[in-house]
Amino acid sequence: MLKFAVLVSGGGTNLQAILDALDAGKITNASLEVVISNNPKAYALERAKKHGIPTRVVSPKDFADREDFHDALLAALEEYQPDLIVLAGFLVVIPQKMVERYPNRIINIHPSLIPSFCGTGYYGLKVHEAALARGVKITGATVHFVDAGTDTGPILMQKAVEVKEGDTPEILQRRVMEEAEWVLLPAAIQKLANPEQ
Ligand code: GAR
Repeated sequence: MLKFAVLVSGGGTNLQAILDALDAGKITNASLEVVISNNPKAYALERAKKHGIPTRVVSPKDFADREDFHDALLAALEEYQPDLIVLAGFLVVIPQKMVERYPNRIINIHPSLIPSFCGTGYYGLKVHEAALARGVKITGATVHFVDAGTDTGPILMQKAVEVKEGDTPEILQRRVMEEAEWVLLPAAIQKLANPEQ
């Protein structure tokens, strides 16, 4: 049984996709142990609570400096001994010591086809604004392992999504979520929980 933690910062629609996939038996041999947010107001926390999943808030505002925040985040994770950490819209740069503590055991969902529109400054709606500004006809989402860089780790899964005439960043974001992210992230967890399949 793969024990995993999900880290969130906002609305948590990707977390919801994971919860729904667990309910539907589309993720098997895996147990979601905790949802951790850096943002106490994240709606994702409500989604977890409704599902009876333990939640933790580790906010940088509660600590004197970044180092202390990072240590608290690692300490919270250690309590649950996860085999896998899933970043589902977690908008905190992952500390180096966390990458070293969990090598090839942290995955992230990014709303573009890496290596396009990724790296520092590309998160959330900004990714879709940049894709539309460049005029690409295809975008998508990527699940990748987290290494020392930003969006530079090995790619695990990708799914393409069409950009349509008249798209706004919000419309495109929604299509990328529906057609790619909410499918890919549960599928990636299922794959890692059942490597022989
Ligand atoms: C998602 O689109 C996710 O891919 C993106 O933030 C959104 C979170 O939405 N992540 C990044 O941009 C990471 N660089 P959610 O809270 O509804 O899942």
